[in-house]
Amino acid sequence: MQATTRVRRIKSIWKSEPTIEGAGVHLRRAFGNREAHQFDPFLLLDDFRSDNPQDYIRGFPWHPHRGMETITYVLDGGVEHQDSLGNGGVIGAGEVQWMTAGSGILHQEMPKGTREGRMYGFQLWANLPASHKMMLPRYRGFGPKEIPIVERDGVRVRLIAGSVDGAAGPVKDVVTRPEYLDVTVRAQTRFVHPIPHGHTAIAYVIEGQGYFDPCRDPYERDEVGANYFDMKRDCLCDANTLVHYEREGDAVQVETKAYPVRFILMSGQPIGEPVAWWGPIVMNTREELRQAFEELDAGTFIKAR
Ligand code: CO
Repeated sequence: MQATTRVRRIKSIWKSEPTIEGAGVHLRRAFGNREAHQFDPFLLLDDFRSDNPQDYIRGFPWHPHRGMETITYVLDGGVEHQDSLGNGGVIGAGEVQWMTAGSGILHQEMPKGTREGRMYGFQLWANLPASHKMMLPRYRGFGPKEIPIVERDGVRVRLIAGSVDGAAGPVKDVVTRPEYLDVTVRAQTRFVHPIPHGHTAIAYVIEGQGYFDPCRDPYERDEVGANYFDMKRDCLCDANTLVHYEREGDAVQVETKAYPVRFILMSGQPIGEPVAWWGPIVMNTREELRQAFEELDAGTFIKAR
């Protein structure tokens, strides 16, 4: 049976904003605590691309996580990590680390630049449902060899989670069925990708420019936080733009004109539970947060080693 594809429209767009996190890391936040209610099951997306080691070398020294997952994707440079499970190493260029904090981990994440000082990467946070918040913590790392690349009709997809043309990314058994794709669309090309109706869908532009839905009327979307000198009145989305899609529809469409575009595309099934969030700990209730911080003080936070 051939179902008609309904292409999703953009709900709103904005640019990631400079912020300071960890021990003094200068990064760009695409969304976080303030906006997360719209992005269930995702909580936060940070863009730490920089050519200046002063932006990132202070890193993210030892800190806890509970009740959520962090997905670190490195394009260039690396992130040195160590954790309470005894894992340690470097997430290198082209690698992904999918960390499920579950009942709790302590870890540190220290970005390292290339010889030229470049460190390009993203960290996405995904929520866990109540049923899995206290699951056994785990780390999974995937190198370039384990991340399939699908190339067709001018589109190149690095498949971290999800599937394209019968190929599937290495991350599978996650409750919210997230998809995480790194997509490059060359100039004068159209990319259409199915995303189940009702799933949250977000794109974040790495470089280049493209149209992220079929609409060519810029007044049909919310452009949040634009500079009031911004007179741009086209629908092209360029670097550092966060594209938030409507929930209705079963595919997204990205089209390019004169330039190529590269973006990450994330989607997942909303959890639909209350969120109680303090710093690196994301639970359902304030009481669970209180308990987590009491356990940290008492030294009983780590349940599994
Ligand atoms: Co962390």
